Amino acid sequence: MYLDRSRNKIEGWRCRGTHCLLGKMWLSLVSFLILGIVGLHINKTQNALSVEVANSVFGIQLESAQSGHRILEEVRLMRRNGFDISRGWYSDQRGKGSHQNESLDSSKQKEGLVMLVKNPATLQTTFSKVFRTNELFGFYMDVQWHLRRIQNGSLILFVVSASGTAGLRDAASDFSAVGSLIGHHLPAGAHWVWVFVKGGRTLLETAVLDKPNSVLGHLHIPKAQLEQNTALEIFDEKRFKFCRKYDSMGEFCDFDYQRPLLNSDKRYEILTGIPFIITAGNRPDYLFESLTSLMKSPGFQPQNLHVLIGGDWPQTEDLLDIFNFTYSIIPIRGEGNFMRFLYYRQVFSFIVENFPLAPAAILMDEDVRVSPDFFSYFAQVLPVLLEDDSLFCATAFGHLAMPTLFSHKDKVRRGDMQVGWGYAIKLTAIKEALLSWPADGKSDRFYDSWLYYEHIVQGECIFPEVSRVIHFGIGLNAVGTRLETYDLVIDMETESGVHLTNIMDIPLQNWKLSLKKILEDSTLIYGDPCEKNFFTERKNGSYIFSYRCESNSTDFTKNLMLAGDCACKLSFVSTEFGWHDGVTLLRVKPGVDIYFLGVPHSSYSYFAVNESLIWDFEKLSNESQYKIWGYVSFPYQRSAWKVMTDLERQEFLRAFLGEGKEM
Ligand SMILES: *[C@@H]1O[C@H](CO)[C@@H](O)[C@H](O)[C@H]1NC(C)=O
Ligand SMILES: *[C@@H]1O[C@H](CO)[C@@H](O)[C@H](O)[C@H]1NC(C)=O
Ligand SMILES: *[C@@H]1O[C@H](CO)[C@@H](O)[C@H](O)[C@H]1NC(C)=O
Ligand SMILES: *[C@@H]1O[C@H](CO)[C@@H](O)[C@H](O)[C@H]1NC(C)=O
Ligand SMILES: *[C@@H]1O[C@H](CO)[C@@H](O)[C@H](O)[C@H]1NC(C)=O
Ligand SMILES: *[C@@H]1O[C@H](CO)[C@@H](O)[C@H](O)[C@H]1NC(C)=O
Ligand SMILES: *[C@@H]1O[C@H](CO)[C@@H](O)[C@H](O)[C@H]1NC(C)=O
Repeated sequence: MYLDRSRNKIEGWRCRGTHCLLGKMWLSLVSFLILGIVGLHINKTQNALSVEVANSVFGIQLESAQSGHRILEEVRLMRRNGFDISRGWYSDQRGKGSHQNESLDSSKQKEGLVMLVKNPATLQTTFSKVFRTNELFGFYMDVQWHLRRIQNGSLILFVVSASGTAGLRDAASDFSAVGSLIGHHLPAGAHWVWVFVKGGRTLLETAVLDKPNSVLGHLHIPKAQLEQNTALEIFDEKRFKFCRKYDSMGEFCDFDYQRPLLNSDKRYEILTGIPFIITAGNRPDYLFESLTSLMKSPGFQPQNLHVLIGGDWPQTEDLLDIFNFTYSIIPIRGEGNFMRFLYYRQVFSFIVENFPLAPAAILMDEDVRVSPDFFSYFAQVLPVLLEDDSLFCATAFGHLAMPTLFSHKDKVRRGDMQVGWGYAIKLTAIKEALLSWPADGKSDRFYDSWLYYEHIVQGECIFPEVSRVIHFGIGLNAVGTRLETYDLVIDMETESGVHLTNIMDIPLQNWKLSLKKILEDSTLIYGDPCEKNFFTERKNGSYIFSYRCESNSTDFTKNLMLAGDCACKLSFVSTEFGWHDGVTLLRVKPGVDIYFLGVPHSSYSYFAVNESLIWDFEKLSNESQYKIWGYVSFPYQRSAWKVMTDLERQEFLRAFLGEGKEM
């Protein structure tokens, strides 16, 4: 049984945004009259889009016939038997990079929610993405992000592929807000098709709830006719053309969009000689958000910016042309993480070739929002970075700025770590990396973890306690649970010009001295780190928690991970990032600093005087080990359970349709 809300007649498009400009048009009537434009007419013509949608456990198929041409947009997937909570759970928890292709015209396995956006006047596809909402965590936030940014007046098709309703979460409420009748009331695994005009009406909405049947929808959409000479086209032609072709650009396509004014009062001299490289691809919507945050951040010097586009992407070039930012195109080979590994090698080569005299370069991905303090931060850390041979980078990413830990915005630290998102790296380190970077060969390693884990570059990085960036993009390697608990919720500094009070502790000798002094003044604590309030119920002060860490063991940081998870409730990305000589500081409560000391790996191991009390997971009884695993995974299990319970409660549609339930 399914609801079919298709309409054959479409009259009176309520159409706002750049496609139609209806609302703004009247507001700006005066200027139109001056220009001799009398209004906007949207006519139906013979040109029409005929959409056929079929979705099932096998995938979805969208067929559109356009003036005689048949265009097939198809997503297929392997057979699966409904929704399986364990899959969403494990694929997340293990952090395995998914290698799905985000473009629609692929025949690879696909599951989730397909979003296809069309310009009603041209009937061309202006945006498409498959969201992995078959996973319970995280990906719904990306659906929300994009839905907010679609222009009013655009035609949006949502089609669920396999179990793509399982992780709709809060996105379902957003669907209701823009007119979906049933999106909010679907059980996990339902098949759903919804075609509507953003800011306007639903054209078709239909679903199969529980049975593994196909949904078939058929819709005839006439092409909306727009008057060509609109004011925007005259005043701002490039942007107008861009917004006709590409959607999900948010305020950029608002009629009265104003490019942010640069704050030219602030100019950090030290940054003048530092090239600023943005690595980009085919996601202009993400890039626009990153560029906007940069333009708003005091100290931005556009003449230093150089965008390196991996591949030939006209949409990204068009956007950069509009902003008049410099870019170069880097040819790419291969796909997925293999392509990226080679691409970043070329980026590093590009820097050496084009800026051989620069002492360092700042690199950032296209999907990173920067803090207003971004340039002020770099202006303070760069002199220290350049002076100290034991440092190779300074990152703006504060990986410990999690809601469950406490951070000071005026403090920086140094440690062994990956570069993160938004970092300054010395040219000497770039050259060092290029010496061992394979120009070919099959490798789908991530370039940043390769630099770090294989010790390609020598030295440590400076990092802030409170982050100066947020990595908001959700792509190939996104991990759902991390998006919600970490990536999208870390603390980013919102003020500009924060004075770093401990920057002079960063040089190696100073850092060693002050760390030694702190450890000397700290209290040793022993016990079960996962016991309730083990870390938090302590008086203000600093403490040492020692754990077994054999440098020669394959999982030598496992003890830190488990104890660290217990200290901050949710994994601090389950790595040792940021530790210095085997010492990691976690501030579990204001005033309570816990120094995790890896023995015998750390040269400070002599502080852990009582060998028999060093925490070692492997030495625990099976029962204790089991308890600790339970504790560490509990927050995820609790969220999964809550999400599933919420889904169970949504019985409205079943009850309404009388499918075996009392009304
Ligand atoms: C789109 O429409 C909504 C609701 O009518 C309105 O609040 C919003 O401002 C519009 N957005 C644009 C970009 O015109
Ligand atoms: C995605 O699919 C398209 C079309 O099949 C292909 O051209 C492209 O290389 C693929 N990209 C990745 C990253 O797999
Ligand atoms: C674009 O930027 C260049 C410098 O990068 C500048 O010389 C030129 O005047 C700019 N053009 C416009 C239209 O702003
Ligand atoms: C690691 O080194 C320690 C002593 O330094 C030794 O006792 C232990 O057996 C080694 N472990 C492995 C896995 O080699
Ligand atoms: C502990 O330290 C925090 C942060 O410095 C402070 O706000 C709090 O008042 C201190 N508590 C006590 C009991 O001194
Ligand atoms: C180490 O701790 C154990 C267990 O609490 C205790 O029996 C032993 O006396 C301690 N050794 C030293 C040297 O403090
Ligand atoms: C603990 O588990 C291991 C394997 O998981 C097993 O070999 C061992 O016998 C167990 N020990 C006890 C005391 O149950």
